[in-house]
Amino acid sequence: MATAVSTVSGEVKQTIQDLSKMIPGPILLLGAPGVGKGTQAKELVKLWGIPQISTGDLLRGNVAKGTELGKLANEIMQRGELVPDSLVNEMVAVRLTEPDVKRGFILDGFPRTLVQASWLDEKLAAQASGNPATSLPVVAVSIQVDYTQLLRRITGRRNCPVCQTIYNIYLQPPKVDGICDVEGAALVQRSDDTEKCFEGRMLTYQSLTAPVVEHYRALSRFAEVNGDQPVADVAASIVSSVERLRA
Ligand code: AP5
Repeated sequence: MATAVSTVSGEVKQTIQDLSKMIPGPILLLGAPGVGKGTQAKELVKLWGIPQISTGDLLRGNVAKGTELGKLANEIMQRGELVPDSLVNEMVAVRLTEPDVKRGFILDGFPRTLVQASWLDEKLAAQASGNPATSLPVVAVSIQVDYTQLLRRITGRRNCPVCQTIYNIYLQPPKVDGICDVEGAALVQRSDDTEKCFEGRMLTYQSLTAPVVEHYRALSRFAEVNGDQPVADVAASIVSSVERLRA
């Protein structure tokens, strides 16, 4: 998978080379809809070789396959509300049994409630003895972008249905209008990327997910980065934050 902008500076590459000597461990990307969690997760996957676990992508995969979970999730997602904690936790639990998480993983869009955060804390504590990555404490990075910019990012987002590259018609357009640079496929727009649904998602974020940010802030392995910069600069900020918090 690739992002539309993937230029990484020499300084960041050096930092990554240093980081490659260590186990990245569990990393959480937190932030409101459209801050760039998915975009940044894909950058970090390329740099660290650990998987992105996006609960939004997993749920959309279930919707596309028409599973029972997908049928339930679809209506909830269209309203900008959250899928029940128990269902999402179970989905993450299954994903964490796959062998590619041994050196760590990037959680994108999870946890989103205090119930999910407590579940994750307990899950990782229980797994700690068997896995070098999960024995490391979680590092949480919150990405900040203001409301007006978020709206532009959400309503302008387009995705490649084949390679999942993320574009934005205003900010990160493809070379040819409506066509993926990598696959040549016609780009698609997520059905929840409307202004109306975005408003609902933001309300949900403020009431249920903002307290999760405070939960991790209090645990001290926490950083905030400015997401309103070029993709490579946001990636550099995340990398240096993780390096500092893992030191
Ligand atoms: P989810 O898919 O997780 O949506 P989200 O959190 O609203 O986040 P987005 O995917 O919209 O944004 P992003 O931060 O990843 O931004 P991106 O990188 O794409 O969840 C969808 C729904 O699923 C939820 O509403 C809920 O119903 C359900 N769900 C998911 N997880 C759940 C959970 N744990 N519990 C319960 N329910 C759950 O970037 C956005 C745009 O900005 C793109 O166009 C991109 O090109 C552009 N962009 C990114 N970075 C930059 C930059 N630096 N400069 C310029 N443009 C940029």
